[in-house]
Order: sequence, then structure tokens, then C-alpha cells
Amino acid sequence: MGNVIARACLLVAATAATAALGAAACDSGATASERKAGPKVGPGRAEQAEFDRDRRPDLVVATIGLRPGDVVADVGAGTGLLTVHVARAVAPGGKVVATDVEPEVLDLLGARMTEAGLADVVERRVVGPGDPGLEPGRYDVILLAQVDHYFDDRVAWLRAALPALRPGGRVVITNRIHHRAAGVAGAESAGLALVRENTSIPGQFVAVFQVKPAD
Ligand SMILES: C[S@@+](CC[C@H](N)C(=O)[O-])C[C@H]1O[C@@H](n2cnc3c(N)ncnc32)[C@H](O)[C@@H]1O
Repeated sequence: MGNVIARACLLVAATAATAALGAAACDSGATASERKAGPKVGPGRAEQAEFDRDRRPDLVVATIGLRPGDVVADVGAGTGLLTVHVARAVAPGGKVVATDVEPEVLDLLGARMTEAGLADVVERRVVGPGDPGLEPGRYDVILLAQVDHYFDDRVAWLRAALPALRPGGRVVITNRIHHRAAGVAGAESAGLALVRENTSIPGQFVAVFQVKPAD
């Protein structure tokens, strides 16, 4: 029942976001650098500004230590409000594979990336709820931003995802602080060790993990 309500809310939000992105995309007088900065006016710009104020993607990107050339799986990417920052951080030369169980939100994400001039950096991929859908050995970072609490079984999901990491790769869980205990416990049970954490963003945590070395 909870999942049905969550999905309905998501799709209502997605519909509103479509209109916002559509309005922003009509700003055809923008220069290339203005497009990279995001929509200049309108509700799309306001939504991104509010997200950036509350979620502090600048601090999330800095805590992860993203660099140009990195390959990132942005799991449960939604409409791409965070993905746009991740894509800017890994360009040039990097890639973001944005996954979600909802094709509709990935359509909106695609529009956002085009608007931001980042379409060539981001690949969209619809996945099943228990299937990470990530190819082995490709990713420097698997990013779980406000999504791990949706998993039926965090530990099973993480175990299925770990082969997708490159040697030395990181799994990052960022979420609201009340999900921290379950997120960290799930990661540790899956064989990950916490290597860095940022709790300076009000009400949130950003936890960076690596695969525990074998004993
Ligand atoms: C709260 S939104 C977070 C969006 C974005 N990551 C952010 O931080 O703003 C959660 C997203 O995760 C997606 N989702 C839920 N379960 C998922 C799963 N098992 N695999 C991939 N995506 C999932 C939902 O469809 C939704 O778009």
C-alpha cells in the first residue's frame, strides 16, 4: 500500500516537473554556458534552486570526491536533480548511468540533461526493483541517493551490485538521517566498510564505503 502511494506521489510530481522543464526548455535564447548552468527562469529553475539549497549537492559531490573521467551509477536517479551535478563533476571524459524503476522519471531526467547540455554524459536505464542492472567491473562509484530505503532487501541488492565496481570503487549512500542506521548496517552486512562520512548537511548523511579487504 505504501509503495502504491509513493508511486502515485512520484508520478504527480513528475507531471509537474514535465511542465516545468518544458517551460524552461522554451528559453531558446540561452547561450551554451547559460544552458550548462540550468534553466534561467521559471519553475524548473526554482525547483533546482530549492533542491540545491536543501540537499547541498556541492557537498555530496565533494564528499564522494568525484573527478572528471569517473564512471558513476546513479541508482534511483529520479528526475535528475542530483544527477545534473554528478554529470558536471565527471565531465569531461566521465559517464553517469542513471537507473530507475520508473521509465517516466527517466524521461524527465533526459529532458533535464538535454537542457543542461549534458545529454552525452548521461545514459538512462530502466531496472527491476531487485536488479541493479549494472555491468561488471565498470563503475568507480555506485551512488544510492535517497533510494536504499525502498529496497525490499538492502543487503541482497548491495551484494548483487558489488561486482559492478572497479577495483577500489566506492559505494555511496546518502539519505535522510533517520535512514542512517539501517543503511550503514546493510552496507556492512554486504561486506562494505565505512571509509568517510559527512553529516554536516542538515537532516542528512553521506556515507562512503569500500569493499572490506579479505582477512
Ligand atoms: C526519493 S527518489 C530519489 C531521487 C534522487 N536519487 C534524489 O536523490 O533526489 C527515489 C527514486 O528511486 C526510485 N526507486 C525506487 N526503488 C528503486 C529500485 N529498487 N531501483 C532503482 N530505483 C528505485 C524511485 O522510482 C524514485 O525515482
